[in-house]
Formats: sequence, structure tokens, C-alpha cells
Amino acid sequence: KKPLIISTDPGIDDIAAMTISLFAKELDVKMIVPTWGNVALEYTLQNTLNLEKFLHTEVPVVVGANQPLVRPAISADSVHGKTGIAGFEFPEADQSLIKPGLAATVMHDAIMTNPEKTTLLGIGPLTDYALLFKQYPDVLEKIEQVIIMGGNIGHGNHGPFSEYNIAGDPEAAQIVFHSGLPVKVAPLEVGNKAHLTPEQMQAIKACGEVGAMLYAMFSNIHEPDGDPRIKIYDPTAVGILLAPECFVMKKANVEIELAGRYTYGASVMDFLSDDTNAEIAVDVKTDKFAAWFIQSIKQAEQGRK
Ligand code: BDR
Ligand code: CA
Repeated sequence: KKPLIISTDPGIDDIAAMTISLFAKELDVKMIVPTWGNVALEYTLQNTLNLEKFLHTEVPVVVGANQPLVRPAISADSVHGKTGIAGFEFPEADQSLIKPGLAATVMHDAIMTNPEKTTLLGIGPLTDYALLFKQYPDVLEKIEQVIIMGGNIGHGNHGPFSEYNIAGDPEAAQIVFHSGLPVKVAPLEVGNKAHLTPEQMQAIKACGEVGAMLYAMFSNIHEPDGDPRIKIYDPTAVGILLAPECFVMKKANVEIELAGRYTYGASVMDFLSDDTNAEIAVDVKTDKFAAWFIQSIKQAEQGRK
């Protein structure tokens, strides 16, 4: 089983990505680090604990960053609702899963004491991974790879040139892309194409209580572009890890724009560069991915019992 740490800002699609990861046979989720992001940290932390209570899992939760490294925080509560998970009432959270300590320190200690290399999954702003790499550079040699949902090749969803997770903390993202680690990216385009049809959403609802929980939340999501299809961005990053056959990957050099007046937070992906620092999913097989997603929810349903 691959040791995995999840940095997340739940967020409805984060809930789906965590659910799949927690019950994936190939993964050993060591800890979850909720960060500020879609909504404030107080909500993303409670949402993570709520989900674990609902799923009957007991992975330690470490409190992440409550703001980006440099600029003020942004918010996506217009998409995910005020609390980040509008549409579903979770049972009262279990606070005892919270592991005390600074996220960077707790992650460092866990990674260094694990004999195997750890994979990092980043499905929110990358503030906590940037702090980890800066504060504890010795950790880099014990990290297998970083897999993120973030960035855009074409038009962004935060600004014309920027995607939400990267725009949330561009300085942190630049640190991650320049870490020297293998970085794999599920950009916005792949999330847009990995949509679920109403029929597939019904199939998810029919899976059982986990499927019904996801159905309730995804039915409540508000896409600012008014697109009625259900897009599930964050699980595409988990898909790169567990179902790579669904994706076409291409190497690129990625730089994050940190100075632009209109382009701050843009992920500049150069697919023609000789030097590359990341592999980008440039295409996804929509049907194959949807089948994998539904199968993963069925597996979570089984695992939860
Ligand atoms: C990303 O931003 C958030 O709103 C989603 O949870 C996802 O991580 C998509 O741009
Ligand atoms: Ca997210």
C-alpha cells in the first residue's frame, strides 16, 4: 500500500476525493491536513472530521494553514456553500481525531519515520506543502511524488488565466513546482471533461449511503458558468494515482506567475521546453474515468460497513 498524505479544503469535490482515497486498497492514508481554501479553515477542518465520522474511518487530522503565504485569502463559498459542503447534514464530528502540532512538523515526522517514500496529494491551495518543503528540506528525499489538482492550460475558473487552487496561493504553488520532486497535475481542463451525466449521478446515488451523500452535495453545487453537468475536479488527481490508464500525460515546465497585474496566479505551462518539472494530464477518457469513479464509490460503500 502506498503511504499517502492528503492536503485538502473540503469543498464538495474534496469530499469525494477523500472518500475514494480512504477506501482505496492501494493506499494507506497516513493523515489528512485540512487547509484554508474553498472556505475558511474552521469549516474545512470540521468538514474533514464530519466526513470521517460518517465514513467510520479514523485517520489522524492535522490542522493546516489558515491563510496563504503572502496575499489575503480568497473564497469559493458561492460554489460550495457557506460551510463548504452545502446539501448534506453530517453527524456531529469526532474532535479526538485531531493530532496536535504544526502541520509541517507533524507531516515531516511522519514521513521521515516511514520506511517507504510517501506520496502527497494536494487538492486545495498548496500552502502546507510549501511550508513543509521550506521548513524541512530533508523531507524531499522521502517523498515519492506530489499529485495535485490545480492549474489550467486554457481559460481559468478564478481569473481568465488562473485556476482556484493555484490562485489561492501562487507563491506556495511555485515552491511546490520548484521542489525538484516529480509533480503530476490534474488541471482544470481534465476536471471539466471528467464530468458525470445525470444517469451516472443516479448510479452513484444508488450505490448506498456514501453514494447518496455525494449525490446530495453534488446536486447542490453551483457552477459559476451555469454548466449543468457535474464536474468532479479533485477526484481526477486521485485518478492519476489509481487509474492512470484514464489519462494522457505530457511533460511540461510549469511556472506560476507571481508578478502579473492581470495574470497573478496563472500556471504557465510550457509543453515545448527541454527542461520539465511536471507531468500534466492533457486529456481524460471521460467514460472510463466515470466507470472508475463509480466503482470506487462502490468500494467505499463496502469498506464503510
Ligand atoms: C478546485 O477548486 C476548488 O473549488 C475545488 O475543490 C477544486 O480543488 C477546482 O479549481
Ligand atoms: Ca479542493
